Amino acid sequence: MSPVQEIQTGIEGFRLWPGALSVRAQAALLAQVLSAEAEAPFYRPVTPGGRPFSVRMTNFGALGWVSDREGYRYQATHPVTGKAWPPIPQTLLDLWSHLTGWPEPPQACLVNLYRDEARMGLHQDKDEADLTAPVLSVSLGDTAVFRIGEAEGGPTRSIRLASGDVCALTGPARLARHAIDRLIAGSSTLVPGGGRINLTLRRAR
Ligand code: SIN
Ligand code: FE2
Repeated sequence: MSPVQEIQTGIEGFRLWPGALSVRAQAALLAQVLSAEAEAPFYRPVTPGGRPFSVRMTNFGALGWVSDREGYRYQATHPVTGKAWPPIPQTLLDLWSHLTGWPEPPQACLVNLYRDEARMGLHQDKDEADLTAPVLSVSLGDTAVFRIGEAEGGPTRSIRLASGDVCALTGPARLARHAIDRLIAGSSTLVPGGGRINLTLRRAR
């Protein structure tokens, strides 16, 4: 993997490593993701209020993040197939320990597939038991317009996440509000059929 450059964005604890994954590493990771996805297909969850997400999701790891009419939670099985989630690819486990230095491995890897108009509204990641453990996020495919603001409120700022970029919510930014406003369609040819795949690694319990 190519060396990473860390950029401070003004939000303390938010870290961004542009181009952390080389083009070759992105293609290798995508192949692993798509082969695991064959076992645990993308599906479209609904919010607790019953609205379908525009993003399709699956998970890797002992636990996966799910949403349905009963709420948000982590569970060990795919809600459609009923099977255990596939393991987290080793490349991602290595990236987690290399970039976060967290002593324990991630338990969950949420895989988000954005196509066309898919987006994700402003939210905080707070379904995890230990909110001191970092969240590490890997972008593949089309560039996304990512919005981030401090946990307590106040202004948000917009940055672009391109294919191969990795970012982390750590320390004071662990509960930062964040969103994906939109994709820049056609900015990458990596994902077959177009769009963007985001991989989010977390400690869940
Ligand atoms: C998320 O907040 O779960 C996804 C963020 C992203 O797609 O970059
Ligand atoms: Fe999130």
